[in-house]
Amino acid sequence: MMLRRPRRNRQSEAIRNLVAETQVTVKDFIFPVFLTEGQNKKIAINSMPGIYRFSLDNLLKEIEECLNLGITSFAPFPQIEESSKDKYGKESYNTKGLYPSAIREIKKQFPEACLFTDVALDPYSSDGHDGIVENGQILNDETLEILGKMALAQAEAGADMIAPSDMMDGRIKYLREILDSQGFTDVGILAYTAKYASAFYGPFREALDSAPKFGDKKTYQMNPANVREALVEAALDYAEGADMLMVKPALAYLDVIKTLHDHFDLPIAAYNVSGEYAMIKAAAANGWIDGEKAMVECLTSIKRAGAKVILTYFAKEFGSKQ
Ligand code: PBG
Repeated sequence: MMLRRPRRNRQSEAIRNLVAETQVTVKDFIFPVFLTEGQNKKIAINSMPGIYRFSLDNLLKEIEECLNLGITSFAPFPQIEESSKDKYGKESYNTKGLYPSAIREIKKQFPEACLFTDVALDPYSSDGHDGIVENGQILNDETLEILGKMALAQAEAGADMIAPSDMMDGRIKYLREILDSQGFTDVGILAYTAKYASAFYGPFREALDSAPKFGDKKTYQMNPANVREALVEAALDYAEGADMLMVKPALAYLDVIKTLHDHFDLPIAAYNVSGEYAMIKAAAANGWIDGEKAMVECLTSIKRAGAKVILTYFAKEFGSKQ
C-alpha cells in the first residue's frame, strides 16, 4: 500500500495552483531600460531581441505602456556619446546631462513610476571601467567623490532609489552619508552586494558601448567561485545602511541568492542579466526551447531561491502575457 502519493497534489490545475509555493508577478519586477540621446529613436539591440535603446520621448511611451501592464519600477541606464566620456566621467554629474534630465522628466510625467538609478562610472568613462584608472590600476577611494556627485544629481532629479553598481569598497556608507547630509534621507540604496565578474554581461556592454577598453573587472567584481565572500560583502552593505541586497547575475548564482536570503533580513534582489535573457531568446528563436515557458521557469526559480525583487528584461513580455 502506498499511503503517501505526492501526485494527488498535482492532479488538477486548481490543486496545483493552491499548493504552488512561489508565484511571480509583475509587482516583483524592476525593468532595466536603455536611454540614448536624440529624438524619436528606438534602436534595436541585436543580442537582446525585444529590447531597445530609446530616446527620452520614446522611453516615456515605453514606461507608460509598462505602467499600464502593472510594472511600477524601472532601472534606466544611459548610453553616453563617446565625445562626452572622459577619464573622470565628469558628464555623470552634469545636472543638465542626458540622465538627470531624463529622470526629472520621467518623474514629472509619471510620479508613480519608481526609479532605481545607476551610480557607476563605466557609461561615462573613456576607459570603460567603473573607477578612475591610474597606471592601469582601478582606484577605489578616489572614485567616491565622483559617485557622490552623481548620486546627488540623480537624487535631485527625483530618483527613488540609487543603485551603486561598481562593486567596489565603501560605496554604501559614503553615499548614504552624502544623501543624508543633503536632506535625501528618503532616497534608498539598492546595493549591488554580490556582483560577479561574469561573461553574462556581454549584451549589456554592447547596448551601452561600455566594455572595458583594457583588461577586465576581476579586481572589483567577485570571483564566480565564491559564495562565502558574498556574506562578507552583505555584512558590510547591511552595516553601511543598504535597503536591499542584490545578487548579479541571477541564474548561475541561485545558491548565492539563497545564502543571502537565509542570513539577512533585508529584501534580496537579483539581476537576471542581459546574457541570461539573450540565451533564452536565442534558443527560442531557433525553435530549440519554448521561450515563454523558459522565461516563467527561470523567473520562478529566481524568486524561489529567495529574491523578492527581480531586475529582468523579461518584465514587459511577462506583463503583456499575463
Ligand atoms: C556596470 C553594469 C553592468 C551591468 C549593469 N551595470 C555590466 C558590467 O559590470 O560591465 C550589466 C547588466 C546586464 O548584463 O544586464 N556598472
